[in-house]
Amino acid sequence: MLSIIVAKSKNNAIGKDNKLLWHISDDLKRFKNLTTNHTIIMGRKTFESLGRVLPNRLHIVLTRDENYKVDNENVKIIHDISELDKYVQDESENFVIGGAQIYASLISKCDKLYITQINKDFIGDSYFPNINENEWEIIEKLSGPKDENNFEYEYITYQRKRYK
Ligand SMILES: NC(=O)c1ccc[n+]([C@@H]2O[C@H](COP(=O)([O-])OP(=O)(O)OC[C@H]3O[C@@H](n4cnc5c(N)ncnc54)[C@H](OP(=O)(O)O)[C@@H]3O)[C@@H](O)[C@H]2O)c1
Repeated sequence: MLSIIVAKSKNNAIGKDNKLLWHISDDLKRFKNLTTNHTIIMGRKTFESLGRVLPNRLHIVLTRDENYKVDNENVKIIHDISELDKYVQDESENFVIGGAQIYASLISKCDKLYITQINKDFIGDSYFPNINENEWEIIEKLSGPKDENNFEYEYITYQRKRYK
């Protein structure tokens, strides 16, 4: 199955100048805990913004550049979303980790959304798509522990609604 993990502001901003807009230590820990030992799927820009290959995770990187190469056995390059099937097993949870283009392209194929909702507006250049509340139900909502920036934020988990 595919799940999205994202940290977004009240107005859905997720990044600017190929960087995050905030630093929330607890959120980074949560990202690590949820994604370690799972496959992570990302756009080429997000991969480059990580600056390194994250340990204990298979990285699937989308690019249209046929010459794009990364010399690391934990990084697989694909050129089309249809190639995801080669690496994504249905029985395990695979995380779509961004950025904006990849979230927009894959949200319709995802069953779960792990949203870190920061209760403040930010000006960004990359935005998360609107969550259609008719399609998703909240299955967990936790307030984030007090942060060094004094941001108020929540961890909200959505599951795709199933119609019988
Ligand atoms: N807040 C968060 O949780 C979070 C998480 C992740 C990222 N971000 C932020 O999001 C921003 C980056 O997002 P972005 O939308 O600019 O970039 P992105 O989605 O990370 O990457 C876009 C690139 O992916 C490739 N791509 C996109 N669709 C494709 C497709 N259908 N087939 C093949 N390749 C495809 C293209 O690469 P080529 O140009 O190489 O062809 C495209 O330029 C940054 O600011 C980052 O910090 C935030």
